[in-house]
Amino acid sequence: MVGSQSSEASNLMAKRAACSGPIEVSTRQRFLNAFHLLCLFCGVSRIRHSPYETTFLSVEFLSITKMATKPNVLVFGGLTLLAPILTQQLIPPLPAEPLVSHIRIVDKFLVNPPTTRIPKAFIKTLQARSDLVEYRQANLTTASVVSKCFMDPAPNGLPYTHIIDCTGESFPGHESEVYIKNTFNIALLIARTSAAQMARVPGSIKAHIRIVVPWYKHPIIEKRYKETDPEGWQPKNLPGAWWHESLRAVGSIKGLPFVVVRCGSIYGESFWTTEAITIALLALIYKHMGREMKLLWSPNQPKTCINNYDFVGIIWKAAEWISTMSREEANAIAGAPFPPSYDDSVTSENCPDAILASAGSVTIPCFNAVDETNATQASLSAVISRMFGIEIGFLGSSAGALEGKMLEEAIKEANEVHLVAWSEIIMKANPPVPDTPLMPYLPPSLVTEDGCGMDGERVKNILKYNFRYPRFDERAIRDYINWCRNEGIWPETDLYTSA
Ligand SMILES: *[C@@H]1O[C@H](CO)[C@@H](O)[C@H](O)[C@H]1NC(C)=O
Ligand SMILES: *[C@@H]1O[C@H](CO)[C@@H](O)[C@H](O)[C@H]1NC(C)=O
Repeated sequence: MVGSQSSEASNLMAKRAACSGPIEVSTRQRFLNAFHLLCLFCGVSRIRHSPYETTFLSVEFLSITKMATKPNVLVFGGLTLLAPILTQQLIPPLPAEPLVSHIRIVDKFLVNPPTTRIPKAFIKTLQARSDLVEYRQANLTTASVVSKCFMDPAPNGLPYTHIIDCTGESFPGHESEVYIKNTFNIALLIARTSAAQMARVPGSIKAHIRIVVPWYKHPIIEKRYKETDPEGWQPKNLPGAWWHESLRAVGSIKGLPFVVVRCGSIYGESFWTTEAITIALLALIYKHMGREMKLLWSPNQPKTCINNYDFVGIIWKAAEWISTMSREEANAIAGAPFPPSYDDSVTSENCPDAILASAGSVTIPCFNAVDETNATQASLSAVISRMFGIEIGFLGSSAGALEGKMLEEAIKEANEVHLVAWSEIIMKANPPVPDTPLMPYLPPSLVTEDGCGMDGERVKNILKYNFRYPRFDERAIRDYINWCRNEGIWPETDLYTSA
């Protein structure tokens, strides 16, 4: 079935349908929406001419500009990454005022009953603040479904203005067709639908953001790659290549107020499959086993990090930033050339909409979302070592001898040992937490020597962003563990007892 709704969302839809009556009314509503926006742009000069219109329009105008100060936000994907924490920041707990009029989140999972792990606090928010946030389950490969996400009116009757696209296939191991269909095509469809709304109702899209996660080669260990470094944009695998190509294609849509936010290694609240936290879980495991813990690669391998809270904060700041200017102005301030991925599967036969390598780079405003410290394996493990009281060493260059299949085998074996120990820990915990999503598993495909070395100056200089977690430190991990405790997923053991 295509575009089926969760019961939460269908309740909302039913309620809304009951209020707004049959289809003619919703068409009229749509017309009125367009009219309201036109008022914003050309209403003022018309007001002078007709005394009748003056009273009518100025009341409308005032109430609309007041409403227009709070955006309608449409989030695609990201239910398992940033949608919960974004919602929490944009709709803080009462009595605080929400920063937005409405958030509509669209993803492939069901929330009721959930078909993926969803933070409990988010489920509560969906129930308690259903006037402000809506979740709908949808199959985004279909144009009519995506279009409906834009066109179904928000509660205030105004268009969605801030679009945040986190869709895409991140699991390795598929054929290129899967990434073309689930990453490239969906991102381009969402962006074209956004551009179509902008053509219909000029000025109605204030920001169109797409995120990209760190699957780029950062081969020079001392270097911190800026947004404008073409060498920092070489995808390290096939899912990365097609994600990258999706940015180039969306970036080529003229006039779309598009910004790419490229994150570092994410950790933090409402997220669990994360490298920094995996090191912490491994520390618990080696403490439990009473064995020496050694990490692959060099201690200097870069691991520039970002807490999920700040990742979301930067995305929102970037959206606000571009909402005040044109795409050309944004390009002039923060444009970065996105070179071709040079992946062999990028051909016009495989993907007619791809921007081929022969077309060169595409300039797109871009921000690296990384915190203020140059985290490395050494700095991350030093923090964890202090917190958990365990020595962490490095295999260094001797791991270099392990290549290809040998390395894969070694990682597989290590994972087996880790998972056995981890299941002992979570079963012996008080209380046991057998279904915790915290898992010290390292997929071999992700254990590469490329590191993640990004420079975050732009976020400070251009966006003036203030970090809640400027560095990965004990406070950051403690907050994360306490969040896990509230979610009931942290194994309470004598391996770590701090409050
Ligand atoms: C989504 O829709 C497409 C096109 O109709 C279909 O091929 C695909 O199987 C659907 N996916 C799911 C998960 O239902
Ligand atoms: C981060 O590393 C880069 C490159 O090594 C260096 O230029 C920069 O000063 C470092 N920044 C901090 C805050 O240490």
